[in-house]
Amino acid sequence: MTTAMAELTVKTFGDCSAPERGAFIAFVRAGGEVSMQGLVERVSSAPALVFARLAGELVGVAALKQPQASYRRRVSSESGVPLPAVEFPYELGWLYVSLGARRKGLSLSLSQAALASSAGAGVFATSRTENSAMHRSLTKLGFVPAGNTFASGRGKHSVQVFVRHAAQPVVAGDSALNSGAAPLH
Ligand SMILES: CC(C)(COP(=O)(O)OP(=O)(O)OC[C@H]1O[C@@H](n2cnc3c(N)ncnc32)[C@H](O)[C@@H]1OP(=O)(O)O)[C@@H](O)C(=O)NCCC(=O)NCCS
Repeated sequence: MTTAMAELTVKTFGDCSAPERGAFIAFVRAGGEVSMQGLVERVSSAPALVFARLAGELVGVAALKQPQASYRRRVSSESGVPLPAVEFPYELGWLYVSLGARRKGLSLSLSQAALASSAGAGVFATSRTENSAMHRSLTKLGFVPAGNTFASGRGKHSVQVFVRHAAQPVVAGDSALNSGAAPLH
């Protein structure tokens, strides 16, 4: 796989400029795997939004989310995986890498940057069963598949829940993030 240096920025919605907010939402929309209903409100309450830029151009996004109780209950009931907020306060999601920037390790870098804001707390994620790229990155970061796969409710896809229990080490040192650039692989 090609490797590259990406500039990673982690912000809250409140810290983002209007163009950054718009760009983040546009990337999430392009991913096409989330409900657009209430998306702006959900994005605005996320603890961390991550932006990846290559040569100054936005090429990927991710987030550490604070899932709504109703969504958490639905994922838990469909998958059979207990997801109490006290054990898994966060969800890793809204990952999207633009077509021209794929296969450069950005999904891993974006996920690492989002997880750095979790302070070692438990995190869950959902991913389409055929999304092998995402599964590889999640596994590298200490996530394990859990429970039953279930129909996504968006199209004909099946979804797998992944959980990352509290106090798993983040693979890359936070120092790389602090410097604004992180190595990809
Ligand atoms: C899924 C997605 C985020 C992956 O981003 P990416 O930056 O291209 O992925 P990476 O380069 O980090 O690749 C991660 C791993 O998957 C592998 N991989 C990447 N694309 C792959 C593909 N199409 N088929 C098989 N393996 C693939 C890579 O080789 C790498 O493996 P390695 O860790 O063994 O080296 C990107 O394809 C995307 O935005 N898809 C649309 C939205 C989406 O599915 N989001 C995820 C929702 S959970």
